[in-house]
Amino acid sequence: MSETADRGHWGSRLGFLLACAGSAVGLGNIWKFPYIAGENGGGAFVLIYLVCIFFVGIPIMICEFAIGRSTHSSPVKAFGELSGGSKGWIGAGILSVAAAFVLLSFYSVVAGWAMHYVYLSVTGFGGATGAEAIGGIFGEVFSSTKGNLFWHFAFIAMTTGIVLGGVQAGIERASRILMPTLFIMLFILLAKAVTMPGFGKAVTFVFYPDLSKLSSAGILEALGHSFFTLSLGMGSMMTYGSYLKDDFDIVRSSFVISVLDTAVALLACLIMYPIIFSFGMDPQAGPGLVFKSMPIVFAQMPFGMPLATLFFVLLTFAALSSAISLLEPVTAYMIDNRGWSRVKATLIPAAAIFLFGVPSALSGDILSGYHLVGEKTFFDTMDFLVSNIMMPLAGLFIAVFVGYRMDIEIVKKEFASGKPLNKLFSVWFFMVKYVCPVAVTAVFIHVITK
Ligand code: PHE
Repeated sequence: MSETADRGHWGSRLGFLLACAGSAVGLGNIWKFPYIAGENGGGAFVLIYLVCIFFVGIPIMICEFAIGRSTHSSPVKAFGELSGGSKGWIGAGILSVAAAFVLLSFYSVVAGWAMHYVYLSVTGFGGATGAEAIGGIFGEVFSSTKGNLFWHFAFIAMTTGIVLGGVQAGIERASRILMPTLFIMLFILLAKAVTMPGFGKAVTFVFYPDLSKLSSAGILEALGHSFFTLSLGMGSMMTYGSYLKDDFDIVRSSFVISVLDTAVALLACLIMYPIIFSFGMDPQAGPGLVFKSMPIVFAQMPFGMPLATLFFVLLTFAALSSAISLLEPVTAYMIDNRGWSRVKATLIPAAAIFLFGVPSALSGDILSGYHLVGEKTFFDTMDFLVSNIMMPLAGLFIAVFVGYRMDIEIVKKEFASGKPLNKLFSVWFFMVKYVCPVAVTAVFIHVITK
C-alpha cells in the first residue's frame, strides 16, 4: 500500500459520504438537470434518468470505489498496479485525470458566473428593472472579459485553498460545512416554492411520465447526464475511494450518494419550475434557465433579492464541492506518481488549470469568433470533449476493466467490504460486464455521430 504523509484518508464514514455527495451534487444538478429535463418533456425524462442512475451509474460508481480502494492510489497508479503495469490501462487512468483537468478548467468559468450573480443579487442587479433588462444581464456576464477572468480566478483560488488543506482538514471539513448548508438552503427555497401557485403544475411536470414525449436522443442524453451528475469517469470517485478504509461498505455508500444526488436534482426542479410556471415562463429556456429566467422571476417576487442571493450562493457551494473533487485527482496523481508534496501538487496543477481555462473564460467575448472545431468556441469544444468523448470512454474502460481484467478475487473482496459476499454481487457483476459497456457505447456512438 502506497501511503505517504501527503496522501491522507477520511476521518469518518460520514465525512466520506458528504465529500462524495458534494462531488456529485453540482452545477449538473441545479443548472443542467432542470433545463434538460424541461427540454425533454419532464416526467418521462426523469423516469429514464432514474433507470440510468440505478442500472448504469450506481454499478460504475461501485467499480470506481473498488479500483481506488483496492490500491489506495491515484487513478493512474491504480490502473497500473491492477493491470500489472499495462501501458494501455495506465492510459485509461491518465484519461480520467486529464478529463478532470479539462472539466475543471471550464466548470470554473460557469461557477464564476454563479459567483458573479451572488454579487449582482446582493447589489440588486445594478438597479435593473423589467424582464428584458434583467434577462439581458446574462449576456453582459457571459461576455465580460474582466468579469470572467476575475471570477474564474476567484473560484479556482477557493478550490485550491480547500484542496491545500488535504483530505481531512481540507476536503472533509469543507464538505461537512458546505453540504448541510446546501440542504438547508434548498429547503428554505422549497418552502417558498411550495406556496407558489405553479407548484401543482410543477409536480405534474416532473413526476407524470408522458412517454410519448420521449425520444431516443432524450434517452441517451439521460444516460450521459447520469454519468456527469454522479461524477463518474473523471477519477473523482476513484480518488475519493482511495482514501477509504477497507471495511467501509462501498455498495451501500454508492446507493446513498446516488439517492442524495438524485434528490437534489429533483428538488432543484421543484424549486425552479413552480417559480417559473407561476410567472408564466417556460421551462424550456435551455442553458439560460438558471441565469436568465430565475433572476427575472426573483426580481418580481417579494423578498426576491435575498432569495436570489441565497439561490446563487447555493449554486456556488454546490459547484465548489464538485470542483475540489476535480482538482484532487490531479493533485493525488502528482503526489502518488511524482512524489510531490501536497502543497506543490495542489498549487502547480491549480495554476495550470486556471491558465488552461482562460480561453474558455474569454469565449464569450474576445475569443467568441475563434472556432476551434466547426462552429464551436474554445469553451464549447472543451465541453464537448469532456462530456461526450473523455467521460463516456473512461466510463467504458472502467466497466470493462472491472468486468474483464481486474482479478476477480480482488473485485469480490472490494464488493464485500469485509463482510460475506451477498447475492447482489452477481447482479452487479452482470451489469458491469454486459449492460454498462453496451449502454455506454450506445451513448458514445450517438454523441459522436449526432
Ligand atoms: N457531478 C458534478 C455535477 O453534477 C460534476 C462533476 C463531474 C464533478 C465529474 C466531478 C467529476 O455538477
